[in-house]
Amino acid sequence: MVSRVIPVDPFDLVVFGGTGDLARRKILPALYQRFCAGQVPDDAQIIGAARSDLNDDGYRKLAADALVEFGKADDPGAADVHAFLARLRYVQLDARGDAGWPELRDLLPEDRVRAFYLSVAPSLFGDLAERIRGHGLATDQARVVVEKPFGHDLASARALNRSLADHFDESQIYRIDHYLGKETVQNLMAIRFGNLLFEPLWNSRYVDHIQITVAETVGVGGRGEYYDRAGAMRDMVQNHMMQLLCLIAMEPPARFQPDEVRDEKLKVIRALKDVGLQDVVRGQYAAFARDGADHPSYRDAVGDAASTTESYVAIKAEIENWRWIGTPFYLRTGKRLMARSSVIEVVFKDTPYSIFGADAGDNANVLSIRLQPNEGITLEVTIKEPGPGGMRLINVPLDMSFSTALGEREPVPDAYERLIMDVIRGNQTLFMRGDEVEAAWAWTDPIIDGWEDRGDRPEPYDGDSAGPTAAEKLIANDGRVWRAIRP
Ligand code: BG6
Repeated sequence: MVSRVIPVDPFDLVVFGGTGDLARRKILPALYQRFCAGQVPDDAQIIGAARSDLNDDGYRKLAADALVEFGKADDPGAADVHAFLARLRYVQLDARGDAGWPELRDLLPEDRVRAFYLSVAPSLFGDLAERIRGHGLATDQARVVVEKPFGHDLASARALNRSLADHFDESQIYRIDHYLGKETVQNLMAIRFGNLLFEPLWNSRYVDHIQITVAETVGVGGRGEYYDRAGAMRDMVQNHMMQLLCLIAMEPPARFQPDEVRDEKLKVIRALKDVGLQDVVRGQYAAFARDGADHPSYRDAVGDAASTTESYVAIKAEIENWRWIGTPFYLRTGKRLMARSSVIEVVFKDTPYSIFGADAGDNANVLSIRLQPNEGITLEVTIKEPGPGGMRLINVPLDMSFSTALGEREPVPDAYERLIMDVIRGNQTLFMRGDEVEAAWAWTDPIIDGWEDRGDRPEPYDGDSAGPTAAEKLIANDGRVWRAIRP
């Protein structure tokens, strides 16, 4: 198949925290893949910057190991790994002092794109931004990339935004939500705005409700300390789930341009109704056995027998605008659930009147957009159940898996590959704007404050289940049911 790789001009990418977990797991493997695809030009430089006492060779060794452990390289000695490593440099640097900065400046040629990836704790964003500017590195072509967690609440997100805005223009700031880099998440816009078919039905007149599920089978793993301070609400809802909600609910932007798209997403967040505590369920997973192995409870995993942090949350959200008033959006996400499945399910209303009689059976269409795994679309269509006995209706799936439909192609790039190259190209469409992040916190903060003020405890749920029973009641109160969580 013909490669669609669009070449980019030579660039410099400085990864602060270049020896850290994110750099090893995601950033370096993503850059290696782009290199293999021919997108990293010969004189591009990838510069690791961190406190560790390393030189270029030491950093290249660390990177080679990371490419094998977390990336797609089989052999750290392979020719393409070797060629990629030649583009790597290392600077030992102090984020809170001046050591190493002159050396970094000497490595960076003027007059070409330079991106500073702040793959460090958010408490260092301000210090780094200040030193990048102070050491004369913030040229017009400079960009700064930051990761979640972008704040812990509205006040801290505002403070982070200010600390970046003191040194960079908003057009230079790239806030990553890796969900936006997923092919299937971008596909939500293609499905909605590339087909005539859906738009006329995409409103509360025809849509009964929408379910957005991000179910994981993994637990909190080694991230207990961070996670126990965050919980599912801050870790998943404030960012990834909100982005999915925005893409599903937003008005068509006039053009597929960064601010046009982000303006429309922001309008959705601002139209969200305040959520009462009766419309929120929190859960925490209990110990369980799977495939003969025992798995610890959430509390054991985070080492706090009294933790009240949620590993599951379900919310009934409502958007107060002309398109969506009257159509609830049920969001749920959790760890240690029965299957890994991220899916958006648009449940249409029943036909206005059944000519076959009330007993003929179900006739509500459901459009399921599977984001991961088994990416694809299913449309449940009503047909006649074959055989005698009159007109009995059943729903059957019109099922499409993207991998079958697209046939053999180059492997789908990881979200980070797309996002890092968008930074280099200067395209902010798939990055969160400062006001968007703040609006998302402004919606989530009162929900979190509400349960903290009341001293609510999350309901325990069995690992390998669909979540706490209170979540069933949340949706049953409206006469609806959750769709099954399927891998
Ligand atoms: C991260 C969260 O942002 O997203 C994790 O911090 C979560 O807790 C992860 O597991 C899910 O990402 P993905 O790409 O595996 O769906």
